[in-house]
Amino acid sequence: MKILLLAAEVVPFAKTGGLADVTGSLPPAIRELGHDIRVAMPRYGRIRPDRFHITPVPGSFPVPMDSRTEPAELMQATLANNVPVYLIENARYFDRDGIYMYPDDAERFVFFCRGAMEGMRHLGWQPDVIHCHDWHTALVPNWLKTVYANDPFFADTASVYTIHSLGYRGIFGHRVLEIAGIAEYEFVASPEGTDANQVVDFMSRGIAYADVINTVSPTYAREILTPEYGEQMDSLLRSRQERLFGILNGIDVDEFNPAADPHLDTAYTVETLDLRSRDKLALQQEAGLHQDVQTPVVGIIARLVDQKGFDLIVPMVEPMLQHLGIQFVLLGTGEQRYHEFFLDLARRYPHQAGVFLTFNASLSHRIYAGADIFLMPSRFEPCGLGQMIAMRYGSVPLVRAVGGLADTVSDYDPATDQGTGFVFESYEAMSLYTAMVRAVETHRHREIWRRLQARCMQQDFSWQTSAKKYAELYAHASSLHAQEQPDSPGQVGE
Ligand code: GLC
Repeated sequence: MKILLLAAEVVPFAKTGGLADVTGSLPPAIRELGHDIRVAMPRYGRIRPDRFHITPVPGSFPVPMDSRTEPAELMQATLANNVPVYLIENARYFDRDGIYMYPDDAERFVFFCRGAMEGMRHLGWQPDVIHCHDWHTALVPNWLKTVYANDPFFADTASVYTIHSLGYRGIFGHRVLEIAGIAEYEFVASPEGTDANQVVDFMSRGIAYADVINTVSPTYAREILTPEYGEQMDSLLRSRQERLFGILNGIDVDEFNPAADPHLDTAYTVETLDLRSRDKLALQQEAGLHQDVQTPVVGIIARLVDQKGFDLIVPMVEPMLQHLGIQFVLLGTGEQRYHEFFLDLARRYPHQAGVFLTFNASLSHRIYAGADIFLMPSRFEPCGLGQMIAMRYGSVPLVRAVGGLADTVSDYDPATDQGTGFVFESYEAMSLYTAMVRAVETHRHREIWRRLQARCMQQDFSWQTSAKKYAELYAHASSLHAQEQPDSPGQVGE
């Protein structure tokens, strides 16, 4: 099959979150299965051509925007396995320092998606499926059912829409429909509480029009059908339930490999777990903590926002430092009030709390390798990659049983000596604290902990299994799309 994957961020070119890890590591795995998958994303100003071996594709082509056209060009790069990546080039929209948070974001991503589609026409490469990710690309399914429905180049193209998080919906004014050229078409879907004529919600349109929808774990796929997790889109999702699937993300097992990781002090495997204590001591030193192999080190790598459970962590972190004697290392950026809280904590507990309010990929590897416990008490978590990476490095996850966390971590049971982490259910600070007590107590027993780490490290979170499921999903979308095609031209557009 020929698949075009569209995303606003793709590792290694641009990343703000797990979305980019997925869009950078799924395509090589799909290629491995023999499919012709290609990726398109914007060429943001910060993506320097010399750094990524990017070459221009000859020619410019027009992209319809509002009642005019805007010129675009393509640049080409590659991912692993020689997956082609097309970077959509337009100085007006993308030659800026950042990725998001501009007042014209709606228009910028409309341009990117339309430019990617017109770019494929320019290349003469006709995709069977367009695989869209999150709100930035959610108008594509809408276009395929409207402006492109009778276009011979795209009439046979099906769409798959992947939801990475309902938390970011892409809500804009009605004007964007004119820019996108779909204002005159009927708008069928509207989440409760919003006025469809005034408010345009990109996410809902992806859900309403895609041939197939999926999200990034089986549990989150079920949770979003409920008002608690559905972000006001649960009834729309329920109405399309037979087209909604859950496929667990994989991780890049080459990038994250404790046996050959250039960022670590010492490489190790499940057979040489003793060596891991060197990485722990190195981390303690780097974070300015008291160096001691017995003290449990808790790692946190996350955006500092409520979704990630920081409102549970804040009231409990001091009792954990004082009563449980843990150390912790935090890496991430986010809300100002959390920055202030953790900076103050680090001042008061300089040898117990290491706080890095920044992005640092290299340090993240050293935290995965040096921490004993990896904390992810999320309020909701569509999949979560940190817990899987942590397990691969022998850092035992402590998580809330929600979304992908529930699908990947099983609670340690001392009676059977089974499980791969510490899991709590209710979103309450006390439940988090109790799980931490269990983790710290278990950590005291060296052999038990060793077996727990080994079970974590032996889990298979590679893309192999999930890539096959995506390939099946592409085929499914394609056949649903073909079934719905009008069989005589006379019916088109009526
Ligand atoms: C979003 C979700 C996260 C998921 C990631 C990749 O960041 O919040 O749970 O792992 O997307 O799908």
